Amino acid sequence: MGYYSGQAHPSTALEWIGDARPEWLRLRYMKNGAGLFEVGEEAYLHWFDGLALLKQFDIGDEITYRSEFLDSEDYVTSTKREKISFTEFATVPDRSALERLWCTINPNAQFGDNDSINLQVVDGEVLAIGDLPSGLEVAPDTLGTGRKVPLEKLLLMTSTPHPQRDEARKTWYNTGIGASWKGFGYHVFGVKDGSHRPDPVAFIPRMTPAYMHSVGMTSRYVVVGEHPMFASLPKFFTLGLRNQPVVNAFDWKGDHPLTLYIVDKDEKRVAAKVEAPAIFYFHHTNVFENGEDVVIDLCTYPDDRVIRELYLSNLRGPKGGNTTPAKLLRHRVNMKTKKVTVEPLTDRSVEFPRMNPGHMYGDYRFTYAVSINPAITNDHSNMLVKVDVATGETKSWFEEGCYPNEPFMVPRPGATAEDDGVVLCVVLDAKVKSSILLVLDAHSFTEIGRALVPAVIPFGLHGQAGPLNGFHRHDALRSDTDGDGAA
Ligand SMILES: [Fe+2]
Repeated sequence: MGYYSGQAHPSTALEWIGDARPEWLRLRYMKNGAGLFEVGEEAYLHWFDGLALLKQFDIGDEITYRSEFLDSEDYVTSTKREKISFTEFATVPDRSALERLWCTINPNAQFGDNDSINLQVVDGEVLAIGDLPSGLEVAPDTLGTGRKVPLEKLLLMTSTPHPQRDEARKTWYNTGIGASWKGFGYHVFGVKDGSHRPDPVAFIPRMTPAYMHSVGMTSRYVVVGEHPMFASLPKFFTLGLRNQPVVNAFDWKGDHPLTLYIVDKDEKRVAAKVEAPAIFYFHHTNVFENGEDVVIDLCTYPDDRVIRELYLSNLRGPKGGNTTPAKLLRHRVNMKTKKVTVEPLTDRSVEFPRMNPGHMYGDYRFTYAVSINPAITNDHSNMLVKVDVATGETKSWFEEGCYPNEPFMVPRPGATAEDDGVVLCVVLDAKVKSSILLVLDAHSFTEIGRALVPAVIPFGLHGQAGPLNGFHRHDALRSDTDGDGAA
């Protein structure tokens, strides 16, 4: 039931069950993700296609919940017409020959602004973001949708929904597929605070660019991982004419390797290009420098089959959304020898990883993620896991009939231990057909308590948090780890 349409929900105080919440735990937690899978009689096909539903939890003296659909042009047009109106990842509208011709002349016309994947705080604005180089402003107090914020200049066709924050340089780094005078390839760019203009860092020419969901970063480098799910440019540029969804422009070519481009931010060049056995991935748990090495921890799949497993027909099917487990692999690249080694960090499935924000981009111990109970594998992701990446030891949270979303680690203000804090997680409790906001102690990984939501919240994608009434403050939780206080 987590893959069916949800609803806008007015702000409601939630019943809390459990121990007393930590006094310091006062914050606003917001999540993005697909939440509407039908318009009129028409239905989207893939989990990634659904129209964005914003969710918000305010955790103070009480916990309140509200949700609101993102008022994108895509949402407004499609719901008003009761017809799917824009090309999504795996769904296309029913288009006339004239409309196909228009989409061929003006390819941007086929894509909407359903920014359903993540949230980013840029220059005091909260933006809903997706795979395109723009975002939609969201008012954190009302969840109202504001103006469209495009990335100007670079000829970008895509940008990943996981930009990385370099606090020292006051810059967001990202990559995307685009064009330059060198042809097509990956633009690596930074966007400084106060500017929506990407500063080019490097351009990596690739006439068959790969699908890319995220980018990695350390203090010195940006890491672009090219797995062999390659775009065919002829297919890409005729999507409009053929009225095909985005996913159909890509083909898995498993006889090609994973190629890691390690780009020096200051020298603005590719400092290393290394190859490793082919894998597919969406997310990094973390990337960091360790002596001569760049360490890249990825939640990996053997191939791109997970893309097909995320069609709603499978997720809602008799197997209950059974998907391939994600394997946490460490790729260690020696920057002098350009040698790469690969090792698994745990035998548990690890996806939707989050960690202490104050330890990102550095050596770290713990990642918190969605997993699959090894005893109940013929199921949707049904467990939360805490992995010690140094030892491979794991702790888990499991309750029969409960299905967790991406967790979110909140460090205790003033904490020195990396796992001193709590882990928040929106969990669907299928037994009672409603969702909860679960609060775990990050160290013991045991439940402190849960807030009961009087609704089913569709499975979401990514979330961010900030102080109550100040969500828009940059990097607020990270500075809290230095003892600034949370609220
Ligand atoms: Fe993601």
